[in-house]
Amino acid sequence: MQINRLKIFTDEAFYFDMPDFYVWKKHIDNIILIEENNEKNNLHTEPENECNVRAKRTAWNSHARYPVLEDLSLKIKQILSDFIDKEGYDIPNLVLRDCWINWYTKDQHATPHTHDPDLSVVFFVDVEDSGANFLFHSSKNFILTKTKKDKLLSVNALKKIDVKNGSVVFFDGAIPHSVSSNLSDKRRVTVAMNFKAVYNSERNEY
Ligand SMILES: [Fe+2]
Repeated sequence: MQINRLKIFTDEAFYFDMPDFYVWKKHIDNIILIEENNEKNNLHTEPENECNVRAKRTAWNSHARYPVLEDLSLKIKQILSDFIDKEGYDIPNLVLRDCWINWYTKDQHATPHTHDPDLSVVFFVDVEDSGANFLFHSSKNFILTKTKKDKLLSVNALKKIDVKNGSVVFFDGAIPHSVSSNLSDKRRVTVAMNFKAVYNSERNEY
């Protein structure tokens, strides 16, 4: 009996290698050093409220506090905008809403979460050898989840993505994702950004 297969909805994530990666990495390492020093004097910018990221992080609007992060976001925005033009996505303008640095020490992780309806970006700055994985979760697979292979990451409700230092991944922020625990004594560093898609419309005068 031939069972036919029809793809209905397919989610995609996209990735590229960050140009001038080592220059950006140096700046990001410096910001973490500043934040860790400032923590001693209670001047760090980490938000007080707990969120899905169970790790250290800078303020959500770190691009407004550290000019180099503004520069980084502009560079990434340019790459995304070129991609949007080339692929013909219906996103006339991208506006940066949030930008922050995460750094995970041993056992720290991020629980599954989604972002607002944004184009979300993760720049993997220092992640190799931490044993942690960035995971996408499907919220749709209740019945047809594969279990035969018996390995957590081989089921069709969870996708691990292979990244290296310098990878930048972007995706629809509505797709649930998480970061598994840092299993090492090495610090795991990422930069996250959310870009809002803004549509040009004629202003109506009343
Ligand atoms: Fe996230």
